[in-house]
Amino acid sequence: MYIWAVLNTFIMVTLDWNNLPFGYVKTDFNVRSFYRDGKWSKPEVSDSEYINIHIAATGLHYGQEAFEGLKAYRGKDGKIRVFRWEENAKRLLSSAEGIKMAPVPMDLFKEAVFLAIKKNEKFVPPYGSGASLYVRPLLYGSGAEVGVKPAKEYTFLVFVTPVGPYFKGGVKPVNMLICRDVDRAAPLGTGTIKIGGNYAASLKAIVRAHDEGYGNVLFLDAKEKKYVDECGPANFFGIKNNVYVTPLSSSILPSITNKSLITLAESMGIKTERRPIPVEELAEFEEAGACGTAAVISPIAKIVDADAGKIYEFCKDGKPGPVSMQLYTRLVKIQYGEEADPFGWTTIIE
Ligand code: PLP
Ligand code: COI
Repeated sequence: MYIWAVLNTFIMVTLDWNNLPFGYVKTDFNVRSFYRDGKWSKPEVSDSEYINIHIAATGLHYGQEAFEGLKAYRGKDGKIRVFRWEENAKRLLSSAEGIKMAPVPMDLFKEAVFLAIKKNEKFVPPYGSGASLYVRPLLYGSGAEVGVKPAKEYTFLVFVTPVGPYFKGGVKPVNMLICRDVDRAAPLGTGTIKIGGNYAASLKAIVRAHDEGYGNVLFLDAKEKKYVDECGPANFFGIKNNVYVTPLSSSILPSITNKSLITLAESMGIKTERRPIPVEELAEFEEAGACGTAAVISPIAKIVDADAGKIYEFCKDGKPGPVSMQLYTRLVKIQYGEEADPFGWTTIIE
């Protein structure tokens, strides 16, 4: 077993790096830690893609489950950089608090994430392929309960998988559908934390949008259906008169990418606003996009509000707008270590 593990690290991975979809590719190892009797175990490395789970685990029955998504990038210098892992660690703490799970301490999060990347180093896509290693930390209630209450035991695991762009074509503009008959998250609900339930609630709308040929769904606020809310698995932003505008809402995920784009925009002399965006204001934006770890920046070509009989069009020439492209380029260059990282966002895996 040990000899195989050593030999395996020398076996080259042959994947079509330039054409990777955003999907699951088996890697060699994942990392697991268990919370029992009030303590987290030392992270252990596993080569199994499966978990053994109690039939009454709260993660299965009552949705006690949260996850994260971050990426590791191979630079021109061959080094592997992780983008803003501390922000993901903090968000997982807030998700855990939101559904009463045991918190994963920042140092445990870092140790498990870095170990999972290091153990699967050969799966970090080569520089220039446009792909990256997606890191998926997962926390769930693994203790058995039948009454509705938080589990006493938890499992924290981290797997990685090499990915290409989330939206087909990468920075090629996509169309979005406004679905007025599905709510993703309630104003006082769980939209601001990254738990599986929010994604389950969005599936009906996503499937409809895909079936009708759209890239994804643009959700409106659940209470009044007046304001732009979440954009599939990403935040929405629009550009109007050289101002970067993004929704202020109590039901969207605080996107680390969006926060980074706001910082970058301001450093480039572009004003930013985080405020409610009335849906009709979409007609005034010159550019629009979805942003997130998986989406990076995905420019939006068209938003269709079928029930209201409205179509909002951006980038009519089929190309992403100039401000979106400038922001995209700066962000990606920092992530791949091609440009200085003045904000200290990347950590090199030694
Ligand atoms: N909104 C939702 C619903 C998401 O799933 C994601 C992805 O994590 C985002 C926004 C973007 O967040 P981040 O930029 O932190 O990846
Ligand atoms: C991410 O961008 O990391 C996400 O979590 C999106 C994912 C749900 C596909």
